[in-house]
Amino acid sequence: MVGYKSKLVEQIRLPSRAQRERALEEAGYNVFNLPSDDVFVDLLTDSGTGAMSDEQWAALIRGDESYAGSRSFEELESAVEEVMGFERVVPAHQGRGAENVLYGTLVSEGDVVPNNTHFDTTRAHIANQGAEPVDCPVDDATDPDAEGPFKGNFSIERARAVVDEYGAERVPVVVQTITNNSTAGQPVSVENTRRVREFADEIGATFVIDACRFAENAYFVTQREAEFSDVSVAAVAREQLPLADALVMSGKKDALSNAGGFVATDDERLYERCKQRAILYEGFPTYGGMAGRDVAAMAVGLREAVDEAYVADRVEQIQELASMLESVGVPMYTPAGGHAVYLDAGALFSHLDPEQFPGQALVCELYREGGVRGVELGRFAFPGTDRPELVRLAVPRRMYHREHLEHVAETAAAVLERREEVSGLEIVSEPEMEEIRHFTATLEPITS
Ligand code: F0G
Repeated sequence: MVGYKSKLVEQIRLPSRAQRERALEEAGYNVFNLPSDDVFVDLLTDSGTGAMSDEQWAALIRGDESYAGSRSFEELESAVEEVMGFERVVPAHQGRGAENVLYGTLVSEGDVVPNNTHFDTTRAHIANQGAEPVDCPVDDATDPDAEGPFKGNFSIERARAVVDEYGAERVPVVVQTITNNSTAGQPVSVENTRRVREFADEIGATFVIDACRFAENAYFVTQREAEFSDVSVAAVAREQLPLADALVMSGKKDALSNAGGFVATDDERLYERCKQRAILYEGFPTYGGMAGRDVAAMAVGLREAVDEAYVADRVEQIQELASMLESVGVPMYTPAGGHAVYLDAGALFSHLDPEQFPGQALVCELYREGGVRGVELGRFAFPGTDRPELVRLAVPRRMYHREHLEHVAETAAAVLERREEVSGLEIVSEPEMEEIRHFTATLEPITS
């Protein structure tokens, strides 16, 4: 068992109901537009929002800011090799920078890219290359009520249908996202990763793992996949990740840092090509858009992420939030994910039409009721898809305590209580690129 004691505190406060009402209106009913000072419990994302350890803060001080040949980069290389099993690392300022580097190298106009489920930035980067992102989740992935140990898995059957339709030459890359963020943070089994490896070999594609939450995934594997019941989280990661040809990583998740990301591979040619593109978009390949100190903190965080006690505590905190919400009767996607609980806004607001964005309406109500900020991952974030109306409550790593989670459950219970009064929303303004509209679009309540 682990716990944390505080060395530093930050005061947070709950604005009054009137202030919350005003803030919501001023934000155009889009919580990405809220000032964080107006948020009490911030579950918008687990990305870059966690608390760093004292060891990471110490590494920050020791960070080497040299433009080239930074010692901090050597530390990162050795952590990536030890924890993830890859020798070549191209750093980037965050995960989407790494996506730009990798997919900009591998994907061309007219290509088709299967992924168990694309995250928004991944989808946008594939589309930005003129290629088509195709989701290949397993059948029960979109059923919030189905039980299953690995609902995040990649459906080989669906991906094979994509190849049959377009031809293997148009499918240069196959991606597996672990855990599967857009499918409620569900894990992926090692068995499924092995099958994707075989499939990629069969069609001659490069196999990429989006490893953002690899440690949380490995923890689920130790709990749910019989072959790994006596294996450490670190050993699972070393088994699963090297099955890919390349990793794309956001250090802001399972490297426990506030910034950073990278591509990792053992393929010399791919490494060289990524490195050149990274120089163009990210920076010299020993810092990649990060400060040297952030590279150093990420190297330490990567090792901490596979610490058995840390990751058990982490995933169990999410399960604790899920059981609190369940006990007050809030419908949610089951089972709980590794980094977040996903509320089922479609079931909660069954009186609202999916076109009226019930997910976004729930996001607004959670803020209005208790200053809690979540994020919609339904049709507002993923236009044109037939997804369940989910609202993600992502828990930052090592930051909140039981009392914060209790406040979230009480807030959700209060919203549940007056669910019939809640109206839907309509979009007032939106940006040109549909794939990223949820970050900046503004909405208003439907009054008639
Ligand atoms: N891939 C996945 C699966 C992600 O969840 C994210 C980010 C990225 C790539 C991009 O990484 O943010 O460092 O550029 N997800 C965050 C979230 C933003 O809230 O889920 P990034």
